[in-house]
This record gives sequence, C-alpha cells and structure tokens, in this order.
Amino acid sequence: MATIILDCDPGIDDALAIAFAAGHPEIELAGITTVAGNVGLDKTTANALAVASFVGAGAVPVTAGCAAPLLRPARDAGRVHGESGLGGAVLPKPAREAADGHAIDFIVDTLAAAPGEITLVATGPLTNIALALRREPRLVRWVRDFVIMGGSAGRGNVNHAAEFNMWADPEAASVVFGAGWTVRMIGLDVTLRARATAAVQEQMREFGALGAELLLPALAQYADAHNVAGEPPVHDVCAVVSVATPAVFTYTPALVQVETTGRLTSGMTVTDFSPSVIPNAAVATEIDPDRFWEVVLRTYGALAADIG
Ligand code: RIB
Ligand code: CA
Repeated sequence: MATIILDCDPGIDDALAIAFAAGHPEIELAGITTVAGNVGLDKTTANALAVASFVGAGAVPVTAGCAAPLLRPARDAGRVHGESGLGGAVLPKPAREAADGHAIDFIVDTLAAAPGEITLVATGPLTNIALALRREPRLVRWVRDFVIMGGSAGRGNVNHAAEFNMWADPEAASVVFGAGWTVRMIGLDVTLRARATAAVQEQMREFGALGAELLLPALAQYADAHNVAGEPPVHDVCAVVSVATPAVFTYTPALVQVETTGRLTSGMTVTDFSPSVIPNAAVATEIDPDRFWEVVLRTYGALAADIG
C-alpha cells in the first residue's frame, strides 16, 4: 500500500490521475493539493473537488495552494485543457468545499506527522512544493518518495526546450531539484508514449458513467500539441502509475538542472546522465505502454463498477 499526497493542476490528465489514484487498491490518497497551472487556482481547485467527489474520493481533503508562480506571472494551458480545465467533461457539483488552510501547510504538516510513510506526487507546476521546502527543508527526509510528472530529457512541449510544468515556474523547479532529495522524474520522454489510443478509448466506453461523463469527454477535448489523431498522451497518469506499479518504468540516475535565465530555454530540464555526475534525480527513460494500459484500464474498470 502506498499513501500519497497528490499536488496537481486539474487539468484533464490530472483528473485522470486522481481517478486512477482513487481506484487503485494499493494507493491511499491522504490528500489532494492544488496549484495554478493548466488553468487558474479557482478552477484547478474546483476541478479537483468535482473529480474527487465523482470518483468516490469525496472524503479526501482538497487544499488550495499557490495562485501564481514564485516570480513570474501566471501562464496557463487553457487552450489545451479547455475553459473549465476538464475539456468536455461536465461533472456534478461536489458536495463539499476545499479544506481550510494552505496547501503548503497541509503538505508539511501531513509529512511531519508520518515521516517516511508518504509519497509526494506532483503533476503540475512545482510552486507549492518549492515553498513547502522553504518552510520545512526536512521534507526531503520525511517523504517516502517524491515523484513528478514534468520536465524532459529531450524536447519540450511548450517549445523545443521546455515542458509545461517546469516552464510555468522555472524558479520553483530549480529549488525543488536543488533541495537535496532524489526527484523521480517522469518526463515527456516517456509520457508521450502513454497515449489513449482509439483501442484504449473503445475500452473506456465499457466503463459506465466514469467513461461517459469523465474519461472520454475529457480526452475528446485534450488539445495537447502532441494529440496525434485524437490519441492524447495521459502525462499525469504516468506519475501515479509509477507509484502503484513501479516496474512499468525504467529509470536512469541523472543530474537535472533547471534553466531559469535562458531567453529561449527557460524551464528546460538540463539532464546529464554522465556516470561522473552526482545525481539528484531518477529519470524515467523507458515505459512499457502495454503494461501501463493494462493496469490503468483494470483500475478504471474496477472504479467504474463502484461508481455505476
Ligand atoms: O506537460 C504536461 C504537463 O503539463 C501535465 O501535467 C499537464 O497536466 C500540464 O500540467
Ligand atoms: Ca498537470
């Protein structure tokens, strides 16, 4: 069993990651924290509440975090995730509000109360994580593991150099990679191979309300630049699958440094796999797509049976 805190910016693929985490028998969601990213904080928080309630995780606390990056103006990805942030999915209004307090305090206090027991997963810009580290540097020792969807050892998606989560707040990403822990980085190199193909989406049609009201309408409007022929990559689902089924991915130690001043390269995760470096990251370099979709569809199928 893995207990996780999911820091996210729902966001279509974040929403599918919440559904996976809620549905997988070996994952317990200790909390969801939200950050501005794909859309503004008000929408990422409302979306997290709506998705959690819809997938039966309505008791999981959702705590809002930072509404803007550390230094830069907020830049969103509404053109990719739609006006609401959930593409074409329209979910019932959640039964409850966000928890009181700030995401930074939720992250620090929850990890402090259970050192070594909780995996911190981040699938949005790293603003909340960076400020939590500033408040409490001992987080690097308290986490059981720290996993992000973000960065790339190859090309980006916002531009040639940068992936969105790192590009949105490069200063936060630089703080996080420089904090002294090992960042398990699930970057575009592998997430672009986790595509919801036509065959995958056909199986989602069997998943009742989960498929009809969340998975398929959300994916249908995921206008990611890499959404080749209506088969979008589900980037953030990779981060939670890596917790539930680590063997789906292969990792290589690397030194990852985040560019913060480049006019053309700001947000680039400069990844050095040289054997001589002192690594600060375990970078996913391989994915088994068949095994990935086997565990994802099995999890969604079981969740669909619960939801009806
Ligand atoms: O680059 C992909 C990442 O940026 C995903 O986390 C997606 O949700 C967006 O936040
Ligand atoms: Ca995200």
